[in-house]
Amino acid sequence: MADLTWPRMAPSSAANLVLVGFMGTGKSAVGRCIAERWGRTFLDMDALIEEREGRTIPAIFRDSGEPYFRRLETQLAAELGEPRSLVIAAGGGIVLHPVNIEHLRRGGVVVCLTATPDAILQRVAGDTHRPLLQAPDRERRVRELLEARKPFYESIPDRVDTTGRPVEDVADLVEAIYRRATATGE
Ligand code: S3P
Repeated sequence: MADLTWPRMAPSSAANLVLVGFMGTGKSAVGRCIAERWGRTFLDMDALIEEREGRTIPAIFRDSGEPYFRRLETQLAAELGEPRSLVIAAGGGIVLHPVNIEHLRRGGVVVCLTATPDAILQRVAGDTHRPLLQAPDRERRVRELLEARKPFYESIPDRVDTTGRPVEDVADLVEAIYRRATATGE
């Protein structure tokens, strides 16, 4: 008999699902999981920026500076400001410019993933692709950035704590938020 549970019933809303949150909170893993469940396209904003620029995020930061990268992020957020049934993972700094969130909200439902500093540190251990984490004292850097960004992440009303939760469980919680927000009742 056919497997009727796969793929799961995709929502009927065309609203994008946009995952924001600090580095290492699982945006890409959860986004991919949900996109697969729904049979929708997963869009990683950082990966698209790298593709368009023809260079990596570390190279962009090194050669053009962080403000340049932030401008690219804002341009892309503006482009993604309409419902296109996408599952989007934003970069961790997307919340720093509130206009980005305004753009992304126009296109869909924004959910913030969170995790404790310890969980984040475990997940980003050994990372070499995140320029902001290439500090002599990574733990201190993560704690400082988290503290500085706290009000920005907390300004997103829908948040899911990913600490100690498997990707599938986080995906269930995010799905519930999306379905409630789009009021499809599915
Ligand atoms: C950044 C997070 C990164 C990437 C860039 C800057 C940040 O994305 O956009 O290195 O400012 O928090 P991830 O959150 O996917 O690691």
